[in-house]
Amino acid sequence: MNFYSDNVAGAAPEVLAALTEGAAGSMMSYGADPVTARVKARIRGLFETEAEVFPVATGTAGNALAMSVLCPPFGAVYCHAGSHAQVDECGAPEFYTGGAKLMPLEGANGKIAADDLDRALAHGGAGDVHHVQPAALSFTQLSECGTAYTVAEIAALAGIAHGHGLGVHMDGARFANALVALGCSPAEMTWKAGIDILTLGGTKNGCMAAEALVVFKPELARELGFRRKRAGHLFSKMRFLSLQLEAYLADGLWLRLAAHANAQAARLAAGLRTVPGIEIAYPVDGNQIFVAFPPAVREGLAAAGFGFSTWDERLSRLVCAFNTDPADVDALVTATARLSEKAA
Ligand SMILES: Cc1ncc(COP(=O)(O)O)c(C=O)c1O
Repeated sequence: MNFYSDNVAGAAPEVLAALTEGAAGSMMSYGADPVTARVKARIRGLFETEAEVFPVATGTAGNALAMSVLCPPFGAVYCHAGSHAQVDECGAPEFYTGGAKLMPLEGANGKIAADDLDRALAHGGAGDVHHVQPAALSFTQLSECGTAYTVAEIAALAGIAHGHGLGVHMDGARFANALVALGCSPAEMTWKAGIDILTLGGTKNGCMAAEALVVFKPELARELGFRRKRAGHLFSKMRFLSLQLEAYLADGLWLRLAAHANAQAARLAAGLRTVPGIEIAYPVDGNQIFVAFPPAVREGLAAAGFGFSTWDERLSRLVCAFNTDPADVDALVTATARLSEKAA
């Protein structure tokens, strides 16, 4: 009954089977294998464009590498104040870019508002030798509050960023959850809306350790190849990252897994909303729920063995995954109702 994160979930059987099957025999190393070639072709097909594809093993590396090709050492990356890049990457964006500055923006429901970005860039100090130079926008889909930017919101942000000469990066750690939530195509949610480079997440949604940088601007790709090697993410046995991604993206598995996670979050939210005194903080667009439990209820749930994270003093974060059991969701709702009644 662990709702702590989608990172606590294991890996999808299809992904593990692909790893076992693909482990036999020899294959060329460092990405020159046929599996990696097939993954690139599949991603190009899914995104309906000639993107360049770079598998990496962690989201942090993907995000920081993406920023490193968009932003010089004297540049600035605009991001949400609560973003993974700003809060949870231990300075990797600054490290990989060689010292660029993250410019955190506040924004309701975990999202950057177009007007706020426009205002910040209008005072961004472009051309002033005393200021870091605005170079990139990086935002997260789903956001860290579990909300999805609509395609129109993405296009508005990207339009403003491009208008000021910035490149645009999407942290898609939960890309599939957002895609399912919006019901749009991968192309509509990315390059057609102005995304230049995407970190396509796999690990949280059924892979073991696999993400892919998807580059929609060919001129960024050459440098990225060298930077990935330098960052230690050009795997000698690349086939094992690619095998995961291949199985993940085959036959719509990634979308089925994300749809399951999202459905469990919706089920949990609906159940919790029936319990008096329980408040859900943000729109539940995907697989994450932020709940204000009364303290006694929060403690009671933890004591009863339900795992979830303490987001801040008021909110707990509960995350559903590709393998969340609906019975666990129902058990959590029932326990919340019982503890709330007792506390009343
Ligand atoms: C929004 C977001 N971006 C990126 C990541 C990738 O992190 P990691 O480097 O742990 O794979 C995470 C993981 O928690 C995340 O939540």
